Amino acid sequence: MYKGKARAYTNIALIKYWGKKDEALILPMNNSLSLTLDAFYTETTVTFDKTFAEDQFFLDDQQQSASATKKISAFLDLIRAEANCPFAALVESHNFVPTAAGLASSASGLAALAGACNEALGMALSPEALSRLARKGSGSACRSIYGGFAEWQQGTDTTSYAIQVPSNQWENDLSMIFILINDQAKEVSSRDGMRRTVETSSFYDGWLTSAAADLQTIKQAIAEQDFTALGEVAEANALKMHATTLAAQPPFTYWSPESLRAMDCVRQIRQQGLPCYFTMDAGPNVKVLCQKQDEQAILHALQSNFAQDQLVLAHAGSGLTALPVNDHATTIIKE
Ligand code: DP6
Repeated sequence: MYKGKARAYTNIALIKYWGKKDEALILPMNNSLSLTLDAFYTETTVTFDKTFAEDQFFLDDQQQSASATKKISAFLDLIRAEANCPFAALVESHNFVPTAAGLASSASGLAALAGACNEALGMALSPEALSRLARKGSGSACRSIYGGFAEWQQGTDTTSYAIQVPSNQWENDLSMIFILINDQAKEVSSRDGMRRTVETSSFYDGWLTSAAADLQTIKQAIAEQDFTALGEVAEANALKMHATTLAAQPPFTYWSPESLRAMDCVRQIRQQGLPCYFTMDAGPNVKVLCQKQDEQAILHALQSNFAQDQLVLAHAGSGLTALPVNDHATTIIKE
C-alpha cells in the first residue's frame, strides 16, 4: 500500500487563462498570472493498493459520480505511467471553504491530488514537474503549486508549467475580499466556456493580442510594487475575458445582476478614495483586490451593500504542502 497526503490552496488569476491551444494536453493560448490565497484549500489523501479493483473518489466523504471519478482516473493514469505503478487508487478529498458558495476549486483540488500522489509514490518531483502534472488535471491547478504570485508559461507539453514570480513578498501587503453571489442560473463550466469562446467568439483575437501586453504590465507592477498599476490591469484583463463570452455563439455571460452591483460598488469605493479593483472568473462571484492597510475600511463599505456571510477576506496563501498521513504539516515548497 502506498499512501500520501497534501494540501493546496486555490489561486485567483489576475491575468486570466482563457482558451486552450491543445485540449488533450491542456496547453493554454496565453500565459496567465495568479495570486494564491489562504482562504480556500483542498486536502487530499491518496492510497494505491494492489487489492483495489478500481479507482474510487470521495469528496467531503461523499462518493463521487462515475463521470467525476473518470476525470480523476484519467489523471491517475498519467501518474501511474510516470511512476510505474499498476495499482488502482482511493482518493479522499476535503474542500475547505468558509461557506457553501460553490467556490470548490479545481485548481486546489488537482494540485492537492498531484502533491498527494507525489508523496504516496515517492516520486520526488520538482515544483516545475508537479506544476506540469497538475496542469494536465486542470490548467489553473498548475499555478497552485506555489504561494504568492505564479505565472503559467504556455510552452509545449514539456515546458508548459507555472513558475514563481519574484515579488519580495509584496503579496503579504495585499488582500482579496470575495463577494459571494449565489446564483441559480445554470453555469457554463470554465472548460466549456473557454472552448466555445475560442471556437466562435469574434472578440477572441482581441483578447489574445491584449493578454500578452497585460502580462508585461502586471509583471512590471509586481516588480515595482505599484498597486494602482496592478489593480488597473487586473480589472481590465478580467473585463476583456468576460467580453469575449458575449460575442460567442451562442452568447453567454457569467455575470448576474448581483455581480454588476458588486462591480459598481467597487468602483464607487474607489471613487471615494480607497484603492480597490475587481476580478471575476467562470461564475458570478466578484473578488476585490486591495491593500491590507485598507481592507477593514473596504470591508466596512462593502458591508453596507452585502450580507456579512457574503464577504470572505483572504490573504496570500502558501504553496503545495505535503502532510504526513497522520498529523502536522511540513511545507515542501516555500514562497
Ligand atoms: C476563468 O483551470 O478551471 O478561472 O483547464 O479546463 O480545467 P481547465 O479550466 P480551469 O479554467 C480556469 C479559468 C479561469 C481563469 C484562470 O483561472 O486563469
